[in-house]
Amino acid sequence: MAKIIDGKLISAQIKDEVKEAAAKLKEQGREVTLAVIQVGNDPASSVYVGNKKKACEYVGFRSLSYELAEETTEQELLDLIAELNDRADVDGILVQLPIPKHMDEDKVIAAISPDKDVDGFHAVSVGHLWIGKEGFVSCTPAGIIELLKRSGIEMSGKECVVVGRSNIVGKPMAALMLRENSTVTVCHSRTTDLKEVTKRADILIVAIGKPQFITADYVKPGATVIDVGIHRLEGKKLCGDVAYAEVEPIAGAITPVPGGVGPMTIAMLMKNCLEAALRKQQ
Ligand code: GUN
Repeated sequence: MAKIIDGKLISAQIKDEVKEAAAKLKEQGREVTLAVIQVGNDPASSVYVGNKKKACEYVGFRSLSYELAEETTEQELLDLIAELNDRADVDGILVQLPIPKHMDEDKVIAAISPDKDVDGFHAVSVGHLWIGKEGFVSCTPAGIIELLKRSGIEMSGKECVVVGRSNIVGKPMAALMLRENSTVTVCHSRTTDLKEVTKRADILIVAIGKPQFITADYVKPGATVIDVGIHRLEGKKLCGDVAYAEVEPIAGAITPVPGGVGPMTIAMLMKNCLEAALRKQQ
């Protein structure tokens, strides 16, 4: 029986810590402010943005909401970002992805000031992560580090295998595990004999976007298994990239879906916003 890593509980603890710190800042007359920009009305993005605003409310941040029409030009979006970069009362800026196809995502991300890049997507933030300098870290991988630390899972000297190489999860995850002194392997769709590699992992982090792909034969008995995926199966049940029912009995520790990695992303976004506000004070 694996230890179940409770992301709901740990994310609630983090949000409460942020709430306490935000209240202290408020006493000094500083209200932490996150600007959230959504372009178009993709239903999934609307849900994510709504949850981010709710989290801001919970921790006592001010959120500024910019809901731009699908037809907004790239220049109009860049102008808004420039205005928010200049505003002293704005601590963090988040542009919900994906943005419409007529806009260049890289250009939009690059326009956000690295000091306000609470998503950690800017090349400066990514570069700082890899060279060990202070900067914002992408929220999902940062949340996974918190899950591991707060669950007492040793990372130093351990074999960590990350499955997936996206800019938002896989790559920053690898950098973070390296920073925690793990030996890190990154696998992807072209990896030959994936199973042979994942079976070496003491800590297996899966972010491939394929429902229940990782079955028990991919996992070393006793390994910690972190599941980043979330999918809705026919019949509406949610599942991850890991076949939980068969992997849980052999894992040492595992994150459930839902209630594992998912809730950590927004908690870490709140933590990054607080950090942005605190840094400004220095
Ligand atoms: N779209 C899906 N996940 C994210 C995220 O973490 N940040 C932003 N800005 N957009 C997303």
